[in-house]
Amino acid sequence: MSILEIKNLSYKYGVGTPFEIAALDNINFSVEKGEMVAIIGHTGSGKSTLIQHFNALLKASEGQVLLDGKDINESRESAHKARFRVGLCFQYPEYQLFESTVYKDIAFGPTNMGLDKAEIDRRVRKAAEFVGLKESMFEKSPFDLSGGEKRRVAIAGVMAMEPEILIMDEPAAGLDPRGRRVILDLIRNYREKTGSTVIIVSHSMEDVASVADRIIVLNKGKVAFNDTVDAVFSHESELREMGLNIPQITKIFSELKKFGFNLSTDVYTVDDAAEEILRYLHKGGN
Ligand SMILES: Nc1ncnc2c1ncn2[C@@H]1O[C@H](COP(=O)(O)OP(=O)(O)OP(=O)(O)O)[C@@H](O)[C@H]1O
Ligand SMILES: [Mg+2]
Repeated sequence: MSILEIKNLSYKYGVGTPFEIAALDNINFSVEKGEMVAIIGHTGSGKSTLIQHFNALLKASEGQVLLDGKDINESRESAHKARFRVGLCFQYPEYQLFESTVYKDIAFGPTNMGLDKAEIDRRVRKAAEFVGLKESMFEKSPFDLSGGEKRRVAIAGVMAMEPEILIMDEPAAGLDPRGRRVILDLIRNYREKTGSTVIIVSHSMEDVASVADRIIVLNKGKVAFNDTVDAVFSHESELREMGLNIPQITKIFSELKKFGFNLSTDVYTVDDAAEEILRYLHKGGN
């Protein structure tokens, strides 16, 4: 059974007002336990709206969200539980830090879960380690940290709830290339170490190509593609029409292939490219 299943889900904002808008239109897909799935789409395609259904923050106008086969809106209790089972890290989460210390901020979620002090402490330390925050920062005010550090505190706060599914909305947005890589690496590391199911939302193909097992492409509130990274990237012109671009480096490799170089095209980063060129040269290519 899939850990998460989305069935015929539609959502409208502003129902009954002149501003009514269909943000999601008959969405269907599922996510398996332990998978790392990326949800990609141009701005306004419905990504943030969609993921807020996964922990019952939004209730579908039509359709269902099943967690382990059970409708999360079956009862008030199941909707409440979903908040903890599915950890949602919002876009620009650093704007939601509010406690007086880093420690208290990371502890906020587990404290709300009613855990005892020792368990909260264990979780705070573990989550801080996942995001690379040193214990010497625990007593600092989150407002004295750099943007990248604040983001890590916010992410640790969600990880400390030890959710079955971790969802991150644009975790790398607004960071410089190095900062992006650090955040994506720590998410990958978290997933490898915990075996958790992770859903990462992004409008950057470049960012998700190297971390995701599968990509779900949203376009105007509908699922356009739901496939492996490779298979999705093979639809370059359709993606471009949806305002999405495959990574530059991938394009270069597919052009080289057209020129007769026997190179692989599942190359998404500069590191992948270097490796593939070396492999090619070792095999006697020129
Ligand atoms: N609170 C709201 N009230 C009314 N309409 C909304 C609201 N939030 C989003 N929308 C609309 O719903 C559609 C989907 O928005 P959503 O924020 O889910 O897109 P997104 O893919 O997350 O975009 P982005 O990449 O910019 O974050 C858009 O047309 C948006 O204008
Ligand atoms: Mg969004």
